[in-house]
Amino acid sequence: MTAIRSVVLGCGSYLPERILTNAELAAKVATSDEWIVQRTGIRERHIAAQGEFTSHLAIKAARAALAHAGVDAQSIDLIVLATSTPDNTFPATAVSVQNALDIHHGAAFDLQAVCTGFIYALASADNFLRSGAFKRALVIGAETFSRILDWNDRGTCVLFGDGAGAIVLDAQPQSGTTPERGVLSTHLRSDGRHKSKLYVDGGPSSSQTVGHLRMEGREVFKHAVGMITDVIVDAFKANGITADDIDWFEPHQANKRIIDASAHKLHIAPQKVVLTVDRHGNTSAASIPLALAVASADGRLKKGDLVLLEAMGGGFTWGSALLRW
Ligand code: UT7
Repeated sequence: MTAIRSVVLGCGSYLPERILTNAELAAKVATSDEWIVQRTGIRERHIAAQGEFTSHLAIKAARAALAHAGVDAQSIDLIVLATSTPDNTFPATAVSVQNALDIHHGAAFDLQAVCTGFIYALASADNFLRSGAFKRALVIGAETFSRILDWNDRGTCVLFGDGAGAIVLDAQPQSGTTPERGVLSTHLRSDGRHKSKLYVDGGPSSSQTVGHLRMEGREVFKHAVGMITDVIVDAFKANGITADDIDWFEPHQANKRIIDASAHKLHIAPQKVVLTVDRHGNTSAASIPLALAVASADGRLKKGDLVLLEAMGGGFTWGSALLRW
């Protein structure tokens, strides 16, 4: 039986030039390199320059992904951009990307699921491609979380960074069996009972301000591993595979301890885990495509590899995706 699969043609990323180290943060708030590394695994993060917006990072990541895929921007008819830090309340940051790429056909929209944004965006694009509505998509995660941080709150300001990553997804007819390339499954979850554990205390309708990120870190941590592993087990069951079949585990990069604990619980070998949190911090919706671009550029991620993605964040939202690269 022939089915349409969404196949990854290429990936790319962009990180702002400015690197902010733990030592610099320790000079501003009551923290230390030792505390940050021990509790999170983070050593440094990138911070967007003044006047450098989420769209600017996204455009650079999109161009890198198009070049890596070897396809022309005009072949793109769908852009789904995951972000919680758009340039403006509206229009969508995705239309700025579309315009910068001189694309004037198809559709472009933003999607907001905080740190799970890239998984939600991938699932959305995959469904549009498999339905036949669009043929080729740019799926982007781009954030400037530095703009919504309270730089006096040591519990949050040490955790996040800015960046963008993108992939090109192509609708290709395939027989629909697991060994072929493409997105094999996506599983999305949310539970609004937890919305006050990780949120921004402002917005156009509530305060008419942008607001600052607020988090009960310990509470988020407590739920993270269970939610992540549950939705990955759903992916394993849906595809009839086990952790041994996975070539690469590319999780959302919030905290090395959460990643290690999830991999351990799922029996995923440590050498299969792609870690970027040490150099990028938590870049929310950008963290997974940034990690994909790192593993692709350094030669780990190869055509035909089975890749497991997962994320969990504000809402709570969480999800997993399984794809053959
Ligand atoms: O990406 C979206 C999802 N987000 C996450 O997954 C984040 C989940 N949460 C976490 O990663 C961790 O909870 C944190 C890294 C945020 C905190 O680690 P923790 O081990 O849960 O620490 P804690 O919040 O329980 O705080 C322990 C202590 C507290 O002091 P007391 O009350 O024990 O005296 C904090 O005040 O560490 C203190 N603390 C700090 N100390 C130095 C909190 N932040 C800092 C800091 N530097 N930056």
